[in-house]
Amino acid sequence: MSSANAIWKKHEFFEKHSIILLIGILIVVAIGGLIEIVPLFYLKSTVEKVEGMRPYTPLELAGRNIYIREGCYLCHSQMIRPMRDEIERYGHFSLAAESMYDHPFQWGSKRTGPDLARVGGKYSDEWHREHLKDPRSVVPTSIMPAYPWLTKPLDTHAVAADLKANQRIGVPYTDEMILKARSDLLTQADPDDAAMDEFQKRYPGALPRDAGPARKQPTELDALVAYLQVLGTMVDFKLYDAKKNLR
Ligand code: HEC
Repeated sequence: MSSANAIWKKHEFFEKHSIILLIGILIVVAIGGLIEIVPLFYLKSTVEKVEGMRPYTPLELAGRNIYIREGCYLCHSQMIRPMRDEIERYGHFSLAAESMYDHPFQWGSKRTGPDLARVGGKYSDEWHREHLKDPRSVVPTSIMPAYPWLTKPLDTHAVAADLKANQRIGVPYTDEMILKARSDLLTQADPDDAAMDEFQKRYPGALPRDAGPARKQPTELDALVAYLQVLGTMVDFKLYDAKKNLR
């Protein structure tokens, strides 16, 4: 009883001197902060390595630039939170590694439209083309704007510089990938291209996309569709969950 009283007497000192109390608070918060922050300096990376993640192909990267240019992120997120309603609607929760090569990442902060983190493979290329040119033609109640101007030819000459910029900030593009960036872009847009094997060696798992009549001169739409179709498809989540004993 008396010792507990003594402690309260000491605490009374803090309670009656606001500046001392403030210094006390600062010290306690600083200790907590250090315990949280200091270990991070000793970690090489806070992003766990996940099998299957590769940098975007030149065509996909060009498509990503159009996604950003057109402001798709203002209505679409690419970030599935580990909560039941999100997982049941969109699929496996997002992993940090999935946006490891995104500069800047496209998590977004608003969902006027659905999350797109797992949209790859959900529809055909043709569906995406029609949907982007005129959303109401495939989803009658859609409030998404139409992007009819995306049928213009893609600027294929800027892509090498773009890979190089990404390499500089840590994306593992090799010098060979940069050198071949434009021809790789054209190869991916044409399933009959003779260099397809060589291209797929550089980008394991990358699928050819059929730009149709525009094979030798893909449009901005072709690039954007290639990007949408790769979203959420690089990681084998069955394998991932099995390894983590998640299911
Ligand atoms: C003003 C908000 C808005 C903007 C901007 C917008 N969208 Fe949408 N998007 C929607 C809405 C709403 C839907 C749901 C209705 C539909 O499918 O059209 C949608 C649906 C989609 C879907 C289908 C998703 C699914 O799982 O069914 C894709 C793909 C898509 N948008 C891509 C894009 C791309 C690419 C852009 C940029 C070129 C874009 N959106 C810009 C609102 C928007």
